[in-house]
Amino acid sequence: MNKNKEFLFGVATSAFQIEGNIENDFTEWEKLENFKNDFSDPKYENGSNHWKLWENDFELLKKLNVNSYRFSIEWSRIEPIQNQFDESAISQYHKMIDRLLEYNIEPVITIHHFTHPKWFHKFSPWTSKNSIEVFFNFARKVIEEFSGKIKYWVTFNEPLVWALASYGEGKFPPGDHDLTKTMLAIENILLAHVKVFDFIKQKRPNAKVGIAKHFIVFKEGRDFFLDKKLSKRINYFFNTMILEAFRSNLLTIYFPLLLNYTSIIELNNKIDFWGVNYYYRLHTKIIINYKVPFRLYAKKPMTDMGWEVYPKGLKKILKLVANYGKDIIITENGIATNDEKLRIKFIKKHLKIVTKYRKGKNILGYFYWSFIDNYEWLEGKSKRFGLVHVNYTNGFKRKIKPSGKFFANYIKKMIK
Ligand code: BGC
Repeated sequence: MNKNKEFLFGVATSAFQIEGNIENDFTEWEKLENFKNDFSDPKYENGSNHWKLWENDFELLKKLNVNSYRFSIEWSRIEPIQNQFDESAISQYHKMIDRLLEYNIEPVITIHHFTHPKWFHKFSPWTSKNSIEVFFNFARKVIEEFSGKIKYWVTFNEPLVWALASYGEGKFPPGDHDLTKTMLAIENILLAHVKVFDFIKQKRPNAKVGIAKHFIVFKEGRDFFLDKKLSKRINYFFNTMILEAFRSNLLTIYFPLLLNYTSIIELNNKIDFWGVNYYYRLHTKIIINYKVPFRLYAKKPMTDMGWEVYPKGLKKILKLVANYGKDIIITENGIATNDEKLRIKFIKKHLKIVTKYRKGKNILGYFYWSFIDNYEWLEGKSKRFGLVHVNYTNGFKRKIKPSGKFFANYIKKMIK
């Protein structure tokens, strides 16, 4: 069992969502007004300007009493032109990591969190086998640079969510609508994970390497057998398909009328921990529609994202993941709201579940999403997940919110 002192109490971010001063596939997508095809209109506008304000932000991390911080390395910064690494960007990440270590804050690095350099999709999209090598080329550089300092690695954040948004629904670049391509992209991403896993282990055998996976609790909308069947099938696709693939070396899914995919995939259970990103529950309902014959919807109480607040779901997900015998880190859990009472209640309820459930189990940490307010992929700056407020109209000024103070006190009590 993990004692409180060893337990990772942290906050999480991703590079693109906070750093600013970035040009990648998302900024390109915004420039081309492609978000509008989907009726969304996020404005990046320098994220939360963290690339410039990181020293000040790390002071705030200290004030939050966290003993760990999950963040990602922006690929487009490290390799803006294919095969050319930007040493000044690498040097800043070194400085950042060194500062965290100086503050006794364990850095947890995500290598891939949704974004790509502008050149990537054209020449080596995730649907092509070539992508594995191209990604590995970047990951190898990151690992060679940082593996001496980093023990915890998340290779990919939410491969399935990313692939669905990019290749299924066409909301993220490169914007396709093809479920078979979605599966192909997932397959190549998982293979890239294995390659990266092996390389990290070679460099640092005691490192812990995982994937942060998004989990949603699904429940039938009505007491109706088809809704139940649908809920089970979606649960398999969304929550367990990838976990099963690691165990069985078989990536397989069948969705009547929509998708039929089976592939042998050499994953050989190469993963140390499953990162659990948990936010909400959805209800399932069969409807008469020839394109998508079902509906997924949220019930109240809802967050500003329209997501149901359902803390009990975290326990369900932890139980599900525990069946796969790996360590678990709750790599994301959070709420978009401007109501601080609600955020505190949300955190309290989820932490209560974690504290109760983790006794005797291999749960290594809990990371609140997010450290500071940031850019949300389709909604822009309007959805505030942060424990620290960012004033976007006044020089990105920061202020710790009441929920940040709550979290800081909670951690202090837990680890003293
Ligand atoms: C992603 C984050 C995102 C959060 C809230 C997770 O799916 O990893 O990047 O901001 O959810 O939508």
